[in-house]
Amino acid sequence: MSSLKPIDFKENKLYLLDQRLLPLEENYVEIETIEQTHEAIKQMIVRGAPCIGFTAIYGMAFAVLQTKKFNFEKIEEKGAYLASSRPTAVNLKFEIQKVLNFLKILARENDDPIFLFKKIVELGDKEIKLSEARNRNMATVAREELRSNLGKDKYKILTHCNTGHLACGSLGTALGVIEHLADCGEIETVWVDETRPYLQGSRLTSYELSKLDIEHQIVTEGAASYLMSHGLVDAIFTGADRVVANGDTANKIGTANLAILANHFQIPFYIVAPQSTFDFESEHGNQIDIELRDPEEILKYNGQQIAPYSAKAFNPSFDVTPGELISGIINEHGIAKGDYKSSLGEICHYD
Ligand code: MRU
Repeated sequence: MSSLKPIDFKENKLYLLDQRLLPLEENYVEIETIEQTHEAIKQMIVRGAPCIGFTAIYGMAFAVLQTKKFNFEKIEEKGAYLASSRPTAVNLKFEIQKVLNFLKILARENDDPIFLFKKIVELGDKEIKLSEARNRNMATVAREELRSNLGKDKYKILTHCNTGHLACGSLGTALGVIEHLADCGEIETVWVDETRPYLQGSRLTSYELSKLDIEHQIVTEGAASYLMSHGLVDAIFTGADRVVANGDTANKIGTANLAILANHFQIPFYIVAPQSTFDFESEHGNQIDIELRDPEEILKYNGQQIAPYSAKAFNPSFDVTPGELISGIINEHGIAKGDYKSSLGEICHYD
């Protein structure tokens, strides 16, 4: 088990591991206002749908502490401001809404900002703690699924982006599955997509797998067809930023390409994501707001221009994989397959 802590709250401050600097530097950024939280999410100091959501809980705690006198409508506005930092990962809105629901009840008893701040921080700590068991359940479900679908002793797994401790606060979603399979001695190899342009694969996933001593190789996204056509991939696992009612799933740009290829080569393609990533208010993937990021992320590398100075670039950060290309969607309660309009509801349990 890795000791990485992407989010650490202590002595009334939030410390975020600066994921822009990994793997070369392990440096924490200190956060103590909602504005700094907004900026940290936007600049991708912290990233990955679950971690963005957890960070937002602490951001809301700062928002309450920054007000002299508690006013619910003002805090709702702050919530909308924080939610605008990144539009695609629905965990952000989900956790902000959870804080607002929590405050609505709690503030009736005591609306002292310091009291409410402490309670929201406790909620954040609790959610991160609970996520570990949820992620563990997903890993168990995924292993069972592989056993019944493929029944091999060891697997060659392809993954995209970063879905480990760094993205989830604990264990991880797709990478949690890989870690669990490795613990069971069932990994032959892991193919890690480098994941242009932020390089979540080569910088972050490889960093986590190296710390965990799990056999892996980095590949360019363009190598996927080669790998699949040469029998080098048994299954693909990725995370998600948003799963909608018909199973359409937004995830890091390049995910849909993998699903299309996997269908062609008849390789199972799975999504692994906690219930907080599910958005039943959207019926279809075309309703998902896809984040367009700064073209400079493509034109430059580490601040260094790599394209002609006159070049333009287009940088959509996510794509939507159609539900019909997904072999199964796994969350902490089980796996949904087939007609997602009905099967997704069966694996969602709301308190
Ligand atoms: O832009 P990022 O790095 O926040 O995107 C992350 C992803 O797309 C992950 O695959 C997704 O959030 C799942 S993380 C468990």
